[in-house]
Amino acid sequence: MIEHIKHIKTSGTIVRSSPFLISRLLRAIDFRRARTVVQLGVGTGCITRALLKKLHPDARLLGLELNQVFVEENRDLQDPRLHLVQGCASALPRFAREHGLGEVDYIVSSLPLAIMNKAIVERILRDAGRLLAPHGMFLQYQYSLSQRRALERRFREVKVGFTLANIPPAFVYECTPELPAAPAAGRRAAAR
Ligand SMILES: C[S@@+](CC[C@H](N)C(=O)[O-])C[C@H]1O[C@@H](n2cnc3c(N)ncnc32)[C@H](O)[C@@H]1O
Repeated sequence: MIEHIKHIKTSGTIVRSSPFLISRLLRAIDFRRARTVVQLGVGTGCITRALLKKLHPDARLLGLELNQVFVEENRDLQDPRLHLVQGCASALPRFAREHGLGEVDYIVSSLPLAIMNKAIVERILRDAGRLLAPHGMFLQYQYSLSQRRALERRFREVKVGFTLANIPPAFVYECTPELPAAPAAGRRAAAR
């Protein structure tokens, strides 16, 4: 909690997510199929722990966290499936490449989008959409609906849920990526 207060401008909260919010956030994940998951804004690691409890033994979880103190606090999460990295979510494509991720099944984000730089948010959402497999999903919680439009611009479908059982109450977004672009007609003809 102290670290949340000290870094309120980048953490966006002073308390950890409640078990109710965590279970609502992760509800859409098909844990039998998910093999590659990314978490943005690991924080105290409560969502990471919940993910590791449910993830398949062969799954991989890449966790990105800006704050070195949180990264160190989560070092006790000794799990071969977890790769915890100190860095900015705006460099997601590079981290994904470095860890050989390929297409990602789910991206679970606790990033405080509402208080982050708009251009950085745009970039993170664009890159997240590109990294996701067609069946994948971007899952995000927020304390307001202020980022709904930004999410709707980047994703094909955005479902919004809500839980009162968190301080503060939170909205949960379940976002489906755009379908891959069909090849251009000219290129199809040339290939024949
Ligand atoms: C709302 S807190 C996460 C709280 C977490 N769910 C918990 O209960 O502990 C947001 C987290 O995102 C991290 N963060 C903020 N901006 C970031 C960025 N650009 N890249 C990676 N992590 C970031 C913050 O340091 C903070 O740990």
